[in-house]
Amino acid sequence: MSLELEIEKRKTFGIISHPDAGKTTLTEKLLLFGGAIQTAGAVKSNKIKKTATSDFMEIEKQRGISVATSVMSFEYKGKKINILDTPGHKDFAEDTYRTLTAVDSVILVVDVAKGVEAQTRKLMQVCRMRNTPVIIFVNKMDREGQEPFDILDELEQELQISTRPLSWPINMGSRFKGVYLLHNNSLNLFEADKTKKASDYINIESLEDPRLETLVGAADAKQLRDDVELINGIYEPFDREMYEEGLLAPVFFGSALNNFGIQEMLDTFVDIAPSPRPRPTDMRDIVPTEKKMTGFIFKIHANLDPNHRDRIAFLRVCSGTFERNTFYVHPRSGKKMRFSNPYTFLADSKEVTDLAFPGDVVGLYDTGNFKIGDGLTEGEKLSFKGIPNFSPELFREVVNLDPMKSKQLEKGLNQLTDEGVAQLFTQQPGNRKIIGVVGELQFEVIQYRLEHEYNAKARFDGVNYHKACWMTGNQAKIAEFIKYKPQDVVLDKDENLVFLASTAYILQMAKSNNPEIEFHETSEFKVSSKF
Ligand code: G4P
Repeated sequence: MSLELEIEKRKTFGIISHPDAGKTTLTEKLLLFGGAIQTAGAVKSNKIKKTATSDFMEIEKQRGISVATSVMSFEYKGKKINILDTPGHKDFAEDTYRTLTAVDSVILVVDVAKGVEAQTRKLMQVCRMRNTPVIIFVNKMDREGQEPFDILDELEQELQISTRPLSWPINMGSRFKGVYLLHNNSLNLFEADKTKKASDYINIESLEDPRLETLVGAADAKQLRDDVELINGIYEPFDREMYEEGLLAPVFFGSALNNFGIQEMLDTFVDIAPSPRPRPTDMRDIVPTEKKMTGFIFKIHANLDPNHRDRIAFLRVCSGTFERNTFYVHPRSGKKMRFSNPYTFLADSKEVTDLAFPGDVVGLYDTGNFKIGDGLTEGEKLSFKGIPNFSPELFREVVNLDPMKSKQLEKGLNQLTDEGVAQLFTQQPGNRKIIGVVGELQFEVIQYRLEHEYNAKARFDGVNYHKACWMTGNQAKIAEFIKYKPQDVVLDKDENLVFLASTAYILQMAKSNNPEIEFHETSEFKVSSKF
């Protein structure tokens, strides 16, 4: 098959949601449809249960599960679908943000009762940064929730994206009758069945068809007619270009648990979701059809077992064909590397692969060469853009508890931050090390791993910071700013200047008093083009 056809065939996406909205359940149902698994219950939730937030065994288990299910691939209607899994726990949100740099589109799951939640907002912010196309699945229609028009309004307002329903629910909760498919006048009637695979649609000529009353009852038939009239009155027809630009999200309603409303979404997904898209680099946009192989590392998974120090680096192939046992160049170090056992992933297993194409994710054994965001090329010295660090939300100072082991501590901190577990900031003068993370659990992971993998002991002392912002702009003004706040301006690992603000108010003041300085919430300030 030609490279063009291989590219055309691939749809690489992520499923995102606030915890508990139904991401794991939906993933499993999609795998069932794709024939990648045979029975429900095969996909383990990668969530750390709320009751076990500081249980290291749970963390290890979670990491073990998430490596196996990092990418799940299956064929559906002639397309190769790659689902990139994202951690379910909010404390690992930065992992999710980075995984989103490797997808070409997303499906966002929202709980009909809860609507837009904190994580939904943050994840969509990340999608908007790079105009990722979004399909929304409103889940749990078998439960009471918000009125569908209200939920659409909420999605539009809170997520700053236009919506267009493509299916419409007929009632909800215990009175949920099913969905009406707006594009082909068909009804998919609901039956609670967790193992059901295919939907049987009933085609009706139009909403005036008198069978509607018999099928859903007079009251719901009337409501459906009124709703559809309203939808056609207020929503523009679905515009595919706007979807591809990340401006418009088609919306489906259903119940992942009951395997309901999923097939129509999947069918639409394979039809409209983009194939691998160009990726921006510091030199030019890389187009997938370029013959030479390029790719970037978006995730690194370390083995927690101290006897097996290997790590798996996840490479998203961006152009050309990745081949086993072929030398590639690691532009950051200039090293040549080849991989004798690159993995690709199936539903819940991995296997050695000879070839991979744009859109595919390959797992590479790594002995410590890779850092998140690194590229791999056939020699070109380019670096991929759009794989930023995000402003951490929790900060602690690292205090070395064993001065004889300061080298180990330094190495450990460096490697863990290369893997993206946390961000490291250094305060000048004084060389104080401050760690920034997105969630509390990460401090425990770092402490545990420093001790067990690097034989270093550290304590984390609370420091009173609220947000980290990367600074650019007028150099003289920045120098002046630093003079007044020497303690609060630190360097990140790449020696970029970062302002640590103690409160939201102080950050606000800093912004308004220093109009010539820009304060950025991610380490990458411009993403040159959308992808
Ligand atoms: P997540 O990955 O987004 O965190 O969510 P997950 O799929 O684990 O689903 C969270 C809970 O919501 C699960 O229940 C799941 O069974 C339930 N759920 C998912 N889809 C639906 C749906 O369409 N309708 C209803 N009524 N419930 C749904 P749990 O009790 O937390 O876990 P479990 O014991 O069932 O696994």
